Amino acid sequence: MQPRPMKSQDLTAVALLEAEAFSDPWSYNMLAQELVFDSSFGFVIDNAPEGGIRAFAFFRVFVSEMHIMRIATGKAWRRMGLAGCLLASCLETARQNSAKEAFLEVRASNEAARLFYQKHGFDIVGIRKGYYPSSGEAALILKKKLE
Ligand SMILES: CC(C)(COP(=O)(O)OP(=O)(O)OC[C@H]1O[C@@H](n2cnc3c(N)ncnc32)[C@H](O)[C@@H]1OP(=O)(O)O)[C@@H](O)C(=O)NCCC(=O)NCCS
Repeated sequence: MQPRPMKSQDLTAVALLEAEAFSDPWSYNMLAQELVFDSSFGFVIDNAPEGGIRAFAFFRVFVSEMHIMRIATGKAWRRMGLAGCLLASCLETARQNSAKEAFLEVRASNEAARLFYQKHGFDIVGIRKGYYPSSGEAALILKKKLE
């Protein structure tokens, strides 16, 4: 279960997992744009040799800040430590690219993700009211210092 950089050949499987994991999924084209965006990094844990992927993450690094855009594990593979393993790889790559702090937004109602990030040392530092346009739900802003 070693994370590796995402390739364009992974995008079909990433789009399937994205649709399974999020109520507001990014389209294939949005994912493809994210993959080629200069400041963006994508990682996957693939399902070799069967094919497909078990988990993926996207993040961006702007100077000293890392922004986690997406992290998801397929339903069949949850609570096995995959997202934790991916997150560790993402944080390490961000550190190597000079990031000093990591940020992300998470739905206030997403208890699994909140507990996941809490377990990995993220703190709530703010709230964005009405952040998700489809539901009007608030987002919590989470932050972790990267040593
Ligand atoms: C959040 C998510 C990425 C976690 O993936 P995962 O591979 O299951 O996570 P891990 O196995 O590495 O970590 C599990 C830890 O996260 C927390 N956690 C994850 N799912 C949980 C749940 N359903 N209930 C309570 N805690 C949960 C716990 O702290 C858990 O540790 P434990 O198993 O020792 O109790 C996954 O549930 C997911 O893909 N959700 C949908 C997409 C999403 O919401 N992404 C995050 C917002 S960007």
